[in-house]
Amino acid sequence: MPGINPPVDLWPTGRVRKGWYGSELGTPDFVTRVEARQLDAIKALIREINDSGKPVAEIRKVDLSHRHVDPLFDQIGREVRHGKGLLILTGLSDLAEPDLRILHWGIGTHLGTALSQSHRGELVVHVTSKQGSDRGSGGTAELVMHTDPGEIIILLAVRKAKAGGVSRFCSSLAAWDEMQSRRPDLAQILQEGFRCWRYGEQAPGDDEYTPYNVPVFSECEGLRSVVYARQTIERAHADLKIGLSLNQIVALNMFDSIVADPRLRFEIMLEPGDLAIMNNYEVLHSRSSYDDHYEWEKRRLLLRLWIESPAPRPLQWQALKFQNKSGRQGIDPW
Ligand SMILES: [Fe+2]
Repeated sequence: MPGINPPVDLWPTGRVRKGWYGSELGTPDFVTRVEARQLDAIKALIREINDSGKPVAEIRKVDLSHRHVDPLFDQIGREVRHGKGLLILTGLSDLAEPDLRILHWGIGTHLGTALSQSHRGELVVHVTSKQGSDRGSGGTAELVMHTDPGEIIILLAVRKAKAGGVSRFCSSLAAWDEMQSRRPDLAQILQEGFRCWRYGEQAPGDDEYTPYNVPVFSECEGLRSVVYARQTIERAHADLKIGLSLNQIVALNMFDSIVADPRLRFEIMLEPGDLAIMNNYEVLHSRSSYDDHYEWEKRRLLLRLWIESPAPRPLQWQALKFQNKSGRQGIDPW
């Protein structure tokens, strides 16, 4: 029967999907603990990879494939594409950091292909506190709810901060319903979208700001997608001297308050070894501020992958902030 066991690689097009309210769900609704026999199989696969000397970036799906773990990777794909769009994988804390990096990459190979996250072609980004970072994830301040320029995000928690740094998630489908029921006129403004700054990562010759409006909410083949990073909107409109109207500001403020509402959001402290896998077009993410350790080697560290599915999610072209020559999502290297 369709819907019971949907194809793991495909997006559920042509169906109206409902979001979730974090306060109505509990941690067990999002967390999957690796079973003992799955962990044994994962360790055996990683041992073989280590013995082969293969670099992480050369690991393919077949290298991390086993009858005990493939159903787990399929469950992740199904939950991310067809379910709540968020899965926290736990129970991996006794894997050493290099082995966790192999598993992180390996899960990505089961979901699709790693995307470049910068013009330097970075496939695995270290999210940690560093000075002078232009991209919000590089500081210790609270992040507001946002999306990234990739299809599926996989975060691996390597180290926690001294205090704080709680991860937060919000269903954009629930946020859409809230906007639509409270102020359909403002929901319409979000659909019309805004110019966006491209983090200075655009290819030579491309505009620093999108020469078109990027819709916060857009629909394609029945799938509603969210693309949102408020600071990129404000920076683009300020630099281009295109003032935001009062209604546009009210729409953005209302959206920010809805996605930050504890009724909607789900929050969790990721422990070292935990992985968070999310559908970036249906789940916004953020984190609370944190106090970090002084020493580099102790600082909070997450590893981030952006993944594109074998059959990419249908999207309006305006929902992509980068006009990549490759036709892929993320940020083309140059
Ligand atoms: Fe992010």
